[in-house]
Amino acid sequence: MPNTLIVNADQGVHVINPNIYGHFAEHLGRCIYEGFWVGEDGSIPHTRGIRNDVVEALRQLNPPVLRWPGGCFADEYHWMDGIGPRENRPSIVNTHWGLVTENNYFGTHEFFDLCEMLGAAPYICGNVGSGTVQEMQQWVEYCTFADRSPMADLRRKNGREEPWKLPYFGVGNESWGCGGNMRPEYYADEYRRYQTYVRHFGDNKVYKIACGANNADYEWTEVLMRQASRYMNGLSLHYYTFAGDWRHKGSATEFDEAEWFVTLKKSLKIEELVQRHGGVMDRYDPEKRVGLIVDEWGTWWDVEPGTNPGFLYQQNSLRDALVAGLTLNVFNAHCDRVQMANIAQTVNVLQAMVLTDGPRMLLTPTYHVFEMWKVHQGGTLLPLYLSSDAYARGDDQIPALSASASKDAAGRVHLTLCHTDPTRSATLSCELRGASSPSSNVAGRVLAAGAINAHNTFDEGDAVTPRAFKDGEARWEDGRLTLTLPPASVAVVTLSPEA
Ligand code: AHR
Repeated sequence: MPNTLIVNADQGVHVINPNIYGHFAEHLGRCIYEGFWVGEDGSIPHTRGIRNDVVEALRQLNPPVLRWPGGCFADEYHWMDGIGPRENRPSIVNTHWGLVTENNYFGTHEFFDLCEMLGAAPYICGNVGSGTVQEMQQWVEYCTFADRSPMADLRRKNGREEPWKLPYFGVGNESWGCGGNMRPEYYADEYRRYQTYVRHFGDNKVYKIACGANNADYEWTEVLMRQASRYMNGLSLHYYTFAGDWRHKGSATEFDEAEWFVTLKKSLKIEELVQRHGGVMDRYDPEKRVGLIVDEWGTWWDVEPGTNPGFLYQQNSLRDALVAGLTLNVFNAHCDRVQMANIAQTVNVLQAMVLTDGPRMLLTPTYHVFEMWKVHQGGTLLPLYLSSDAYARGDDQIPALSASASKDAAGRVHLTLCHTDPTRSATLSCELRGASSPSSNVAGRVLAAGAINAHNTFDEGDAVTPRAFKDGEARWEDGRLTLTLPPASVAVVTLSPEA
């Protein structure tokens, strides 16, 4: 049976929250320092110390939200270390990530400045593990209080008259692990206490995000929902993909087809996680008021040879692009519950959008997926039916194809597709049902490469880059769209109504 896709263009109900396409930047390795912050005296072109090339590249993705300062770093971060004249800020040791000295030059003001440059909403993760309730309460007051108050006055003294908007606040990170090794019952009570003092000042309404589960820890979700769901807007989930195990995760670029297969299979586990955590949430919150916030996800490989093991610097290949595309299609499919996701991490750490080497920068295959998939941001998810061949290896198999469809405000239908099988191309017959004006106006791009481990380097930055469909790869015939997808590829297709 041929691969078949039926898209119901008139049956969309749920909106794809743009925040599903969110990002995460931690004080880890070269993410903040070098990746974003190059200093006001640095030779790399910058605006107020934040490098221009990275900001310009990320702006092309329409980054909706940026999570900061961690990660594990968040539960060791004391925000008052990062305000005031930089030369007066204390240095600390980043004990989680490489035991390097952190000079606190990038702090609250620099973070809000970065968000404004990116056009991204700020999402701050507060310190529960080693911080106090007062410290968290004062941070929110510092950022968002408009009138006279000790914290608002301190903000003014540090050069910022107007409060910022702080729409998203996380109450601790991985509180089951690096954020304090708590039991869910204990954290649920701590969450209730800390969040009480995360105030809504003026018209700044804070969407409060509780620390959620790791991977398949459904018990954590159960306890948090039972004990604290009425106090939260969102509950997080973390899931990382690697080929091996935590000790030997696998190389980012040196792998064979067996590792390709197992990686994509493991990345697809996110569907089961979203469904099962969502199922627990449904029992306490059938209206789906509480968002599932996947605020850390992505691939995690062994660090690049010769780099600091604590810096989590990894290359990014066509395989990472497939993981990104498959995962984003799953998040779209569950956009009734998944309200935000933040890939880890933006620059130079884990599954990054961009890598830097001093003044040089490259765009990764994952960057291109986020650029191709951005058409879904804010669109209406369209229900679809996909019948796909299997991509089989030995006794095991995964679907060869994955698809997501949405309709934007202008009536355009966008399809994003992943083809997991690196051994052959795939033909897909697409039918668009219920479109007021079925369209033959098709535009699309494909990301593919000659090898499954193809990646961009500082010397060859376009080895993996999207190209337009070639003649014959997207054909409109008899009211159906026939697509030919190369082996191991992702694609975006837009069908525009005829004028
Ligand atoms: O993203 C790297 C680390 O992974 C984060 O600091 C932590 O939250 C997670 O374990």
